[in-house]
Amino acid sequence: MSKAMTALPGRTAIVTGAGSGIGRAIAHRFAAAGAAVVAADLNLAAAEETADASPEQIVPHQVDVTDEPSVQRLVQATLERFGQIDILVNNAGIGTTKDLVETDLEEWEHVFAVNVRGVFLCCKHALPSMLARQYGVIINMGSVAGLIGIPQRAAYCASKGAVVTLTKQIAVAYVKQGIRCNCICPGTVDTPWVERLVAQTPDPEAARRALERRQPMGRLVHPDEVAAAALYLASDEAAAVTGSILVVDGGWMAQ
Ligand SMILES: NC(=O)c1ccc[n+]([C@@H]2O[C@H](COP(=O)([O-])OP(=O)(O)OC[C@H]3O[C@@H](n4cnc5c(N)ncnc54)[C@H](O)[C@@H]3O)[C@@H](O)[C@H]2O)c1
Repeated sequence: MSKAMTALPGRTAIVTGAGSGIGRAIAHRFAAAGAAVVAADLNLAAAEETADASPEQIVPHQVDVTDEPSVQRLVQATLERFGQIDILVNNAGIGTTKDLVETDLEEWEHVFAVNVRGVFLCCKHALPSMLARQYGVIINMGSVAGLIGIPQRAAYCASKGAVVTLTKQIAVAYVKQGIRCNCICPGTVDTPWVERLVAQTPDPEAARRALERRQPMGRLVHPDEVAAAALYLASDEAAAVTGSILVVDGGWMAQ
């Protein structure tokens, strides 16, 4: 697909979790496609690093997506600076590596706070300005973990399952008001998160190879490949696409 077909000229996008991995790749790709991007992250220094690549087009912003006033400030700051929010990418998310019995309540609540409450709050506060203009695109970062059960991912699977269904609910609730809402479900993506996960194992090389083998392509997905999917969904090329789940997983879910 040519760049011209997927460009985002004059669009304003908020990308949460834009300080690392997939979110950073999305911020960079959207900026390259002509959008103004608010790179929002809990880690301001990381968001600033993302913005350094394209300071004309990417504005860093500190946000905690679990905290309603913080999310309200993000939306307010974006509207004050750019006058509109065309695209919201709810990418901020955290993982866990435990089955249900080992998961304590605090960890369960924290995963849901970031992965589910965060999506709820960002949508709740960005949607009114989108509805006023009868235009808006929301992209939620799900996971294959929201589609199938993966061992040692109890809270993570449950939270991403909620993201998948919330995506569909938003899509049908606001379809007549010019809003599109879609979900990307990546397989295992080569990001700092996965690096951390692998580094914690007794044999990191073997752990990485096992993750690669889990996907029929025999490799991890690159963050840019997820960003390409986000660009498609954000663009008018996807004008007829809402409530969809776009799997980017090297064939994992096809087995
Ligand atoms: N990496 C993978 O294999 C993979 C696979 C499927 C889905 N995902 C999803 O993609 C998204 C990004 O994952 P990644 O691998 O790039 O992770 P990452 O850990 O590299 O980056 C996540 C970013 O989110 C930020 N963040 C965390 N909590 C936050 C909060 N409360 N408020 C604002 N920002 C916060 C972090 O500071 C970090 O910069 C997540 O939603 C994750 O569940 C990742």
